[in-house]
This record gives sequence, structure tokens and C-alpha cells, in this order.
Amino acid sequence: MAARSRLALLGLWTVAFLARCLAQWQPRDFYRIDCGAASNTSSGDRHWQGEPPQSPAFASSGISINTSAQNPELPSPAPYLTARIFTARANYSFPVDPGRHWIRLHFYPFPSPGFDPALANFSITVGPYTLFSGGIVDSVRRSGSGGVYLVKEYSVVAEGSELAIVFQPSPSSNGSFALINGIEVMSMPEDALQDDAVLLGQGTATKFGFSRLALETLYRLNVGGASVNAANDTQQRSWVSDGHGFIEGAAAGVGSQDFSSSIKFTKEVPEFIAPAAVYGTGRVLGISNTVSNTFKISWSFPVSPGYSHLVRLHFAELYYTKTYQRMFNVYINNRTAIDGLDLIVLGPRFTPVYKDFVVIPSSGVRSLRVQIGPAPNSNAQFNDAILNGLEIFKMNSTAGSLSDSDGGESSSSSSGRSGGSKAVGAIVGAAVGGIALLALLAACVFVLCCRRGAKGGKKLGWRPVPASQAGTGTSTVTLGFPGSSPATHYSATPANSCKHFSLQQIVDATDGFDNDLLLGVGGFGKVYKGEINGGTKVAVKRGNPMSEQGMTEFQTEIEMLSKLRHRHLVSLIGYCDENSEMILVYDYMANGPLRGHLYGSDAPTLSWKQRLEICIGAARGLHYLHTGAQRAIIHRDVKTTNILLDEKFVAKVSDFGLSKVGPSLDHTHVSTAVKGSFGYLDPEYFRRQQLTEKSDVYSFGVVLMEVVCARPAINPALPRDQVSIAEWALHWQKLGRLSNIMDPRLAGDCTPESLQKFGEIAERCLADRGSERPSIGDVLWNLEYSLQLHDAAMFHHHQRSEDGNSNLARQTPEIPRTSSDGQRMMMSFEENHSEDTTASVVFSQLVHPEGR
Ligand SMILES: *[C@@H]1O[C@H](CO)[C@@H](O)[C@H](O)[C@H]1NC(C)=O
Ligand SMILES: *[C@@H]1O[C@H](CO)[C@@H](O)[C@H](O)[C@H]1NC(C)=O
Ligand SMILES: *[C@@H]1O[C@H](CO)[C@@H](O)[C@H](O)[C@H]1NC(C)=O
Ligand SMILES: *[C@@H]1O[C@H](CO)[C@@H](O)[C@H](O)[C@H]1NC(C)=O
Ligand SMILES: *[C@@H]1O[C@H](CO)[C@@H](O)[C@H](O)[C@H]1NC(C)=O
Ligand SMILES: *[C@@H]1O[C@H](CO)[C@@H](O)[C@H](O)[C@H]1NC(C)=O
Ligand SMILES: *[C@@H]1O[C@H](CO)[C@@H](O)[C@H](O)[C@H]1NC(C)=O
Ligand SMILES: *[C@@H]1O[C@H](CO)[C@@H](O)[C@H](O)[C@H]1NC(C)=O
Repeated sequence: MAARSRLALLGLWTVAFLARCLAQWQPRDFYRIDCGAASNTSSGDRHWQGEPPQSPAFASSGISINTSAQNPELPSPAPYLTARIFTARANYSFPVDPGRHWIRLHFYPFPSPGFDPALANFSITVGPYTLFSGGIVDSVRRSGSGGVYLVKEYSVVAEGSELAIVFQPSPSSNGSFALINGIEVMSMPEDALQDDAVLLGQGTATKFGFSRLALETLYRLNVGGASVNAANDTQQRSWVSDGHGFIEGAAAGVGSQDFSSSIKFTKEVPEFIAPAAVYGTGRVLGISNTVSNTFKISWSFPVSPGYSHLVRLHFAELYYTKTYQRMFNVYINNRTAIDGLDLIVLGPRFTPVYKDFVVIPSSGVRSLRVQIGPAPNSNAQFNDAILNGLEIFKMNSTAGSLSDSDGGESSSSSSGRSGGSKAVGAIVGAAVGGIALLALLAACVFVLCCRRGAKGGKKLGWRPVPASQAGTGTSTVTLGFPGSSPATHYSATPANSCKHFSLQQIVDATDGFDNDLLLGVGGFGKVYKGEINGGTKVAVKRGNPMSEQGMTEFQTEIEMLSKLRHRHLVSLIGYCDENSEMILVYDYMANGPLRGHLYGSDAPTLSWKQRLEICIGAARGLHYLHTGAQRAIIHRDVKTTNILLDEKFVAKVSDFGLSKVGPSLDHTHVSTAVKGSFGYLDPEYFRRQQLTEKSDVYSFGVVLMEVVCARPAINPALPRDQVSIAEWALHWQKLGRLSNIMDPRLAGDCTPESLQKFGEIAERCLADRGSERPSIGDVLWNLEYSLQLHDAAMFHHHQRSEDGNSNLARQTPEIPRTSSDGQRMMMSFEENHSEDTTASVVFSQLVHPEGR
């Protein structure tokens, strides 16, 4: 009886223990010091502890300074507007529980009497680790935060019950001092970092001696989602959206929907590993299965050469529920890091998992590249891949340094190699010491093997592949600028930055609606070029005061349009509704409508690559309209005059959404469309009066044909069968001879493979029935594919002209015609109807763009 009740008690304890583990983690130590502040301060929901100027609680000495000059770029006043300065060695010393801690250091070097920030040259050390050394002004300038302030995050182990952060002014330069604005010290969960990262290229979990390792956070991304600020993370970490300039090349994939409320944390991956907002969004290759399996999404990160890096990848399957639906590879620095990852094998849909890799430096490589792509030969149902989050940490050098200005790079390759051999030593040590753990690991791997083995004798888990894997093509279309990218598609854009202008401001901007500044006249009214705020060029669209559109509709419209922000949409800057005027102010597009660059003007010819990039940009803008907002927005008037080009020839869709508002505006718009945009109109819409996104796809198909043929959509002067480009070009495309009517100026520039793909996608857009037309996302993918084919063919062409035909001969044996690889390759090119030799050469170029 007693034994049984004791057993029951034990069971209860276990339950209680488990419940505690799963409950939200709380740090044991948490200090947040506003250095140099006389009193406690708070910014938003963050509280900063001040320090009495004479007897600060944690600092050993120092001088407090402050400034009132608040730079608008600062995220908050605290802790930046006060600082502590040290002219000699000094430290901040925090009582802590032994164990791993985060240290976050905030810097905002402002001038103060007697202290020139340019002289703030110092080092920061914790125990044997040098976290930072050098001039702070330089570091701030190089930082991503607009060059105004800097937050550095480190992770170190406190050996004893005190964590001392030591500041040492540079001894060799005269008058140098150390400066610090804010310090956060916070315990890390014990299990947050485990000593079993995979050494890239070795494929096995290895021991790196993480207990004697300091890390610096370099990048922390919420892939495919919006930025998550520190207040929403259990460990107070900030996650930025991966759209911010990290994606390489044209293949950016698409951000997923937000599934954060469905994420199920586990005992192995509790919430402190990464918030649900990170696991609940991801970036996937595409929504459809038409994507070729050679596509990859690539992210590239500048790193300091000579240092090893810890890369943590976060995954959660958001869409599929069965194994063998999505299987993909992850590549780091062109090597296969994970082969054939099937997340459902690791847990049901919405289960978070993460994988750690250690990347040892190879000499001279200054960037770290992460790629995902479908696993070749996996026979998975979908050619797709997903990544949800990504963290990159710099690991200390053998000398214990994390500083860019010493250690690391100077001894670059040699220190890399010795680090490697040391690691091997550590593995041996661990193998002796940790047999039990290894046995456990082996058991896990065994279980995994068996499960997968049973499902059809596939090769398992993580397999190192030594061969270098190359990425996607070398297109120059890049995404990423703060606040707007596919990554933020599905999140509400925070800033409603639409300004109200007075009528006087508009009159001044346009010289009183001077006809000399007239850019064009549309259904809505006249468009003028103007200048506001002493130089910013804008386009001012003045609604016809006689138009039927009411003021409320006009305002609803502004509300809706001002929420749409995308790199490939013309932004609404502001409006003016004074005196019943209905005036909209937009970004000025220096290069005007696309149409003017195709025909009817003496503008220089656009190259095929430029044309492709413009089409891709416009497709991205439309894709955002169709999928980015809560309700799909149908443009209704897609045409070459509504695709505008900025000074760098980046395409932006304009005039969007005007049709969505009221029936009266609707009326104006439809009648304009019928009159002005004949030739672009979806025949199905014409027949059935039912508007869908596919109507935009049809019009976009007309735009594509216009881009190839460089002639108007409708030209009544031509013989009857040639009047409409949709009919005429479709006729030639169906014969496979689109090149016959192609813009002659493209001859020699446009590669046949690329043109063929382009023609195919235009043909599908022009399908008579909407249901047969692809989605705009699909169109986007195929255009990117066409660009890749073009790049690959151009590259091949260059190679051939450089090396002569011998190069081709050398390459041919590499093509695995008979292997399953080859079969798959032919399958993916079947739809091209191209001769298999060309196809396979292009294919090999796609896989190995460098041709090696
Ligand atoms: C700023 O510095 C001045 C002069 O040292 C001091 O009197 C004042 O209290 C400081 N202000 C704050 C907010 O610390
Ligand atoms: C400032 O904050 C610290 C820690 O949060 C607290 O112990 C202290 O009492 C506060 N001081 C004042 C004056 O509120
Ligand atoms: C920190 O400063 C105090 C006071 O000057 C000193 O006693 C202590 O040794 C210093 N700690 C370190 C790690 O330098
Ligand atoms: C900082 O001091 C070091 C010597 O300790 C010197 O090499 C370096 O150039 C200095 N940097 C700046 C920005 O003054
Ligand atoms: C350092 O500064 C002091 C006083 O500002 C000056 O007397 C001395 O010559 C300087 N030394 C060097 C090496 O510049
Ligand atoms: C972040 O936290 C704030 C308040 O703490 C909350 O209102 C907001 O919804 C959170 N955002 C996310 C994405 O969880
Ligand atoms: C990976 O390949 C790309 C393109 O071929 C190249 O630019 C890059 O330097 C390579 N990276 C590494 C780490 O080898
Ligand atoms: C990091 O620095 C510590 C202290 O100097 C050293 O013991 C350790 O080996 C270093 N780690 C690596 C990977 O070099």
C-alpha cells in the first residue's frame, strides 16, 4: 500500500516537474542598467535601473554624462541619452548564479564637453574573452541600425557567482576612454545551447566544448515573417524579418501565412528556443508544384573571415501532414548540411525543431550562405522546402577573442585549421567521457533509421555530401528593404505614413497646377509633376472635381491605399481633401511608364534581361496585391502604361485598387477600362461580368507579349489578324515561333531557352478561361525561371567563346543521362519541348553555374 502511494506520489512529482518545464521560462538573473542615469527610467514596457552618480551599484568607477539631443533614429530615449565613461580600467560587476548568460551592450556615442566620441577606443573583456575592441564610432557607423546606435549581444558562461564586464581604454592612443550607455545581463536557459552541433562537412554531432565558448550574435531572423521585438521573446531577443536585404538573387520564394497560434512546443523545443511568431511563419519555394527542383532560396550574410560560426536553423512544417510530401536539402556555404529533411518524420505538423551547425572558416570567405531547396531524387510529392528561423553566432577564436579588430582574420586560415584539429581532439575526449550520451544519440539515430527504413528504404537523416553544391543563377533582382518585402506580406504594415497636405502646399508644389508640369491625363483626372519639402519629386494626381466620386469613398480609398507598401508598388505619400479637392500624392517615377521604353519613343533599347527583371518586378507587385492584404485586391487595369520605372528601372505597379471602392467610382473605372484599355480586357470578364484575380493575369499576359514584340496591345492600322497582340502573338507562340515577331532589337540578346519559357507563360496567361490561367505567383516563378535560363545560357555562351569547344567536350560526360538524376532532369524539362541536348547543358549550368 505504502509503496504504491509512494509510486503515485513520484508520478505526481514527475507531472509537476514536466509542467514546470513546459511553463514559460523565467530568467534567474536579469539586470537592465541605464548607465550614467541618475534615476530609474522606462521606455515603453522596458524598465531600466539607473545608477546614483557617485556610488553606482555595479560600476567600479566612472563619470556620468548625458545629452538632450535625441536622434529620431534611436528606438527609445533610454538607455541611450545617458552614458558612463571610463578613462582607466574599470568594470561592471553583477552578482549572478553560475551558468550561461546573455550580455547585451547598448552604445550611442554622443559628444559631451571634454569627451570627443572619436577618442572612445577601448576593449571589453569578460574573464578570458575579449568581446569587443576598437573605436566605437567606427563600429556604430558600420552597424545596420542607420549608423546611429549599436546593440551588441554576447553569450558567455559565468564561472563563479560574479560576472564582471571589464572596460579598458586603449593604452596606446592618447586621451582614449571607454563608453557604455546600457547593459543587460540575463541568465540563459540551461538547455538553450547544447554541445552537440554538427560540424559542417563531417555530418556527425560533435562536442565543441561549449562550456568554454563565448558567442556573439550576428544575425537573428524570423524567416518569412515580420520582425519580432524583444518584448515578445522570452529571452528578450530581437528577431528581424529576413526580407531586409539578406535574400540573394531573384528566387526569393514566398512568405507563408502566419500559423503562430498553432505551434505546439515540446519538451525538447520549449518556447524559449524561439517564439511561436518565428516558428509559425516560414519561407517556402512556391505554392505550386510547377517549380523545377533545381530552385533554391539563398540567404547571404557578411561575416568576419577567420572565425568559426554557429548556425542555428529553426524549422516547423506548416502545411503538410504526411511524410514524403515535402523533403528538402539545406546547404551551408555550398555544402549539403541536411540531406532529405522530412519534418513530419520528426514530429507532426506545427512541431518546432532546430538544428545547430558549426561552420569552420575557409580562408578568405567573407560571407556565410544558407540555401534551401527540394531534395533531388527524393520522390517527394512536392518540390518544396521551408525555413522558419535562422540565427548566426560568431564563436570565439582560440585566443578567446570575438573582436573584428584582432585575432581572427590575421591568422585566418591557420587558426581555422588548428580550430578544426582541436575540435577533433575534443570529439575524442567526448567519446571517452560521454559514452552514455553517445549511446543515447546512437539509439535515436537508430530509431530514426528504422522508421525511415520501414517507409521504403530511403537513405536517412543527415548525410554529408562532400561535393560543392552551387546555387541558383546570378540574377540581380534582389528583394529587401525595411518594412516591405514578401516576408511581411501577411502581416499588417505598421506605419500608416500617409500625410495630409494643405491645398496651398499642393499649389506650391505644382506651380498652381501648371500645364507644363502635366505628366498625363487619366480617367481619374490629371497627373502633375511636383516638388515637396524643398526637392522631393512627387506625382500629384488631381481628381476631376466634376467626377462622381464622393468624399467618403475618396477617404476610404486613401485608408486602403496607404496600407499597401511594397517595393514594386508606387507608394501613396499623401493626399489633400481641402475645398472638396481630391488630390493624391505619389512617389515620382523618374523613368515613367514601361510602354515608353518599348516603342513610340527614342528611349534606349531595354535588354532582354532588363525586360525580364521588369516583368518579374511587376509580377511581384501584382502578387502582393492579390495575396498581401486581407482581401485580395484586383488591379483591373494592368497595362504597360500602369507599370512605372524608377530611376534604377525597378518596376512599380501604379493605379492599383482604384476600382475597389464605391459603385460610382467602379462605374467610372469600368468605362475607362473599356475605352482606354481595350486589348487588355479579359474576354471571360467581358462575357460574364465576373471579376477575379485571373482577369489581372490575362492583362499581364498581354503586357508580356507587348514586352517581347515591342508593339501596342491594339494597333488598328495593321491588317485585321494583327490588330490585337493577344491574338497575333498567341498564334505564333502556338506554332513555337514567337521569335518571328519578336522585337528585332532583341536578336542576339534574347536566348532561345529563355524566350521559349517566357512565351509559354504568356500563352498560359492568355488562356480563354480564367480557370486555365496560372496564378500570378505561378507566373512570377516561371518568369524567374526564364531569367535563370537566360543567365545560365549567357554564362555558357561566355564560357564557350572563351575556352572554345573543348570546354563543351569536357562537360558533356558530367551529364548523368542514364542515372535517375538524368531521368528526373528530363522530366522537368519535358514541358519545354526543347531538344534534350540543349536542355541538359542548361541544366548542368543551372546546377553548377560556375561550370566546375
Ligand atoms: C545631466 O547632467 C547634468 C550635469 O552633470 C546633471 O545636472 C543632470 O541631472 C543630468 N541629467 C540626467 C537626466 O541625468
Ligand atoms: C530602481 O529599480 C531597482 C531595480 O528595479 C529598484 O530596486 C529600485 O528600488 C528602484 N529605485 C527607485 C528610486 O525607484
Ligand atoms: C572590478 O573592479 C573592482 C573595484 O575596482 C576590483 O576590485 C575588481 O578586481 C575588478 N574586477 C575585475 C574582474 O577586474
Ligand atoms: C584604437 O587603438 C588601437 C591601439 O590600441 C589602434 O590600433 C586603433 O587604430 C585605434 N582606433 C581608433 C579608431 O582610434
Ligand atoms: C598626450 O596628451 C598630452 C596632454 O593632452 C600631451 O601633453 C602629450 O604630448 C600627448 N602625448 C602624445 C604621445 O601625443
Ligand atoms: C507583442 O507584445 C505586445 C505586447 O506585449 C502584444 O500586444 C503584441 O500582440 C505582441 N505581438 C506578437 C506578434 O506577439
Ligand atoms: C558558394 O558559391 C558562390 C557562387 O558560386 C560563391 O560566390 C561563394 O563564394 C561560395 N561560397 C563558399 C563559402 O564557398
Ligand atoms: C574560446 O576561448 C576560450 C578561452 O580563451 C578557449 O579556451 C577556447 O578554446 C576557445 N574556443 C575555441 C573554439 O577556440
